[in-house]
Amino acid sequence: MSDLPNRKPETGAFFPRDRTWHPPAYTPDYKTSVLRSPQKALLALDNTISEITGPVFGHSIIGELDNDLIHNFARPGESAIGERIIVHGQVLDERGHGVPGALLEFWQANAGGRYRHRREIYLAPLDPNFGGCGRCISDENGNYRFRTIKPGPYPWPNGPNDWRPAHIHFSVFGHGFVQRLITQMYFEGDPLIWRCPIVRTIPERRAVELLVAPLDMENTIPMDARAYKFDIVLRGRRSTLFENRLDGN
Ligand SMILES: [Fe+2]
Repeated sequence: MSDLPNRKPETGAFFPRDRTWHPPAYTPDYKTSVLRSPQKALLALDNTISEITGPVFGHSIIGELDNDLIHNFARPGESAIGERIIVHGQVLDERGHGVPGALLEFWQANAGGRYRHRREIYLAPLDPNFGGCGRCISDENGNYRFRTIKPGPYPWPNGPNDWRPAHIHFSVFGHGFVQRLITQMYFEGDPLIWRCPIVRTIPERRAVELLVAPLDMENTIPMDARAYKFDIVLRGRRSTLFENRLDGN
């Protein structure tokens, strides 16, 4: 994991976020960033105990179909329209260790590129059998997996003709609120990725490439669904207490 991004010295309970790796807040080619970016210099605050130690989620909050977007909104016996896929990967910290018990939430447009949202304006039709959101919790090694359909690209009112590449939105809670990550996953081979004004706010090409999930034929289910692999790196804990613990064996 030596090429993963953290170039700052280790201070505090977690690695500090590297703001040269993440997109800057003010990027005028992404129009909405102009009004919502901070107008004043940022203030650094120390993390409180609750931000470092929480939240903790139990598997009991996850429903049976929460990790199956093909069926979790569908009428009985029916399923969502679209290319059936499996998205899976590992939630890691910056030391390359799996993060177990992380809550992942995901939301996306349907196969035609339309969201089920009252402020959606795109003319593509809704799929009556597709809601567009789900969640799961990573296992003891940080692995996660869900089924869905491949979302379609959609146009958005930014420049005169801007289209979002096919993408899935992710929210990830790790072991502390300070690890919270909200990001997007793209699909290998999509020519719209490199034309997207949101993607282009990311300073380094390597950082964009880490958001592009490769086709994973190894985990494809023949005659059912293709697989895409998307690993997610959260801010790591500075402490290595667990590894250093003397347990006598
Ligand atoms: Fe989106």
